[in-house]
Amino acid sequence: MPNTTHSTSHLAPAQRKAAPVPPVFIVNTVLRLRKFLLRAADAVVPSYMAVYDRFMGAAHTMLVHSAARLRIADLLVAGPLSGAEIAARTSSDADVMERTMLALVSIGVFRRLSDGRFANNGVSKGMITGATGGVRGFAEFFGHEPVMRAWARLPETLQDGKQAFKEVHGHLAWDWMAADPAVQAAFAEGMSSMTEVVAPAIAAAYPFDEVKTVCDVGGGVGIVLAAVLRKYPHLRGILFDSPSMLGEAKAYLEAAGIADRVDLVPGSFFDSVPRGADCYLIKTVLHNWEDQEVLQILRNCRAAMEPGQRLLVPDFLVVPEAFSTLVPFMDMAGLMIYSGRERSPEKLAGMFAQTGLKMGRMAPLPGVQAVFEAIAV
Ligand SMILES: C[S@@+](CC[C@H](N)C(=O)[O-])C[C@H]1O[C@@H](n2cnc3c(N)ncnc32)[C@H](O)[C@@H]1O
Repeated sequence: MPNTTHSTSHLAPAQRKAAPVPPVFIVNTVLRLRKFLLRAADAVVPSYMAVYDRFMGAAHTMLVHSAARLRIADLLVAGPLSGAEIAARTSSDADVMERTMLALVSIGVFRRLSDGRFANNGVSKGMITGATGGVRGFAEFFGHEPVMRAWARLPETLQDGKQAFKEVHGHLAWDWMAADPAVQAAFAEGMSSMTEVVAPAIAAAYPFDEVKTVCDVGGGVGIVLAAVLRKYPHLRGILFDSPSMLGEAKAYLEAAGIADRVDLVPGSFFDSVPRGADCYLIKTVLHNWEDQEVLQILRNCRAAMEPGQRLLVPDFLVVPEAFSTLVPFMDMAGLMIYSGRERSPEKLAGMFAQTGLKMGRMAPLPGVQAVFEAIAV
């Protein structure tokens, strides 16, 4: 991602409700079971039904986008509402709202009660504003028209391999976000809430008691750093990001109660990375860049490190046979919407080897992610 930032309405940690996340192996087992059951159902139902769901993906996207944009899940927190009541509260057409809600229920978003009113269910609760691990912001982001128009270019991108958003709009998605505060806020909201789910797992995945100072490279507002520093009171942190992102980070770190232990260092990881830490972290940054750029970022991280020190790389985990759409779709989003790609552990290990690092341990994280440990040689 270029030097743009995701300006945001980040909620401070104290304002978020903690949501329990089941252990990684349980989540992955359930996802594998779901995949098996779906394949079994596909083999039994008429093929038009099995294929229908897939070619109506645009309908899924726009249904969920509309619900997220109108914050319907927020409205239902106080209790069930009829389609007409939801329409009245969102200045929408009552007939269209009823039909839209029924379509959402058919894909498992919201629940229809026997009296015809609609209520939140487990899925729609993930679209309540500010829910930890919630994705209201991403649900809104991915249905914006410029994103949908970029997806429509896939047939051409299959031919020429070009990044779709840039070809369609003449600029990168990051530039579009930077110019539209509402879009940028939706993206930032999604990014923050996903990071809040894995941040405690990152803090637990590595023995940070062995180090004194952790530098989070492209660390955003400091969600991961806050989780790590709160777990390890002896630690200091360096938060390295663009100046505008660090402007937002101040309030977040203060609310997390660790601002006095964190040095904010503005800059670009394409120029250099701050020295002086004995452990480095770079979360979900590398997947936003193409290989040459990733090599440059890794070289700059390595230049800041002493031999034997660690660079921890929490990122998405590419496995040979995906058991959820999350990582393959994230990879396609890199091709079609932002830039970059998802990389297998083997590919990452090769890039570490080219930049003076070697692959160490790998610890699984919730949400088909893992912490890859790169050791400076
Ligand atoms: C996908 S976000 C990840 C944020 C955070 N690590 C997380 O996982 O929540 C990428 C981050 O990289 C930062 N960034 C983008 N370009 C940068 C650059 N050239 N130098 C430093 N940070 C940059 C962005 O501001 C943003 O905070």
